[in-house]
Amino acid sequence: MAEELIIATTEDKAEKYKVLVPQIEAIVAGEPDVVANLSNIAAALRQTMNFFWVGFYIVKGEQLVLGPFQGPIACTRINFGKGVCGTSWKEKRTIIVPDVEQFPGHIACSSASKSEIVLPAFKNNNVALVLDVDSDRLNDFDEADREGLEQVMRIVEKLL
Ligand code: SME
Repeated sequence: MAEELIIATTEDKAEKYKVLVPQIEAIVAGEPDVVANLSNIAAALRQTMNFFWVGFYIVKGEQLVLGPFQGPIACTRINFGKGVCGTSWKEKRTIIVPDVEQFPGHIACSSASKSEIVLPAFKNNNVALVLDVDSDRLNDFDEADREGLEQVMRIVEKLL
């Protein structure tokens, strides 16, 4: 795997995900190490979508623990049900937060973070990890992000 990532030259997010998703499939193919794969997925997402912060929090016991990510340093542990990530884990669903200040219990790892999307990945019907993406702009995530990132999470689930 030495080829460069191809990034669609368009402002259309759905189109960007469409070009990215098969490349993510190819990047992880044949590599069995989960940390290596999650690391490259975080990098590919950051390169393609230019996210402010993108990374994984992995379920370890009663907490989410920071995993591979791209962006500024972040909180290392999040309790079940806490913040957007802990709520996504508890409720087993994708959460889009247009304005983090309006989300009760939001955990501010960075004061620059203004909107957020968090998606769970499942193993045996339990949440095994979440993908967290933060933006420094309000209302930055929509259904195109949900659909594109949910496809990425289905790839992640095959790695778990
Ligand atoms: N804002 C998240 C915490 C993680 S960081 O922002 C990287 C939350 O409320 O769960």
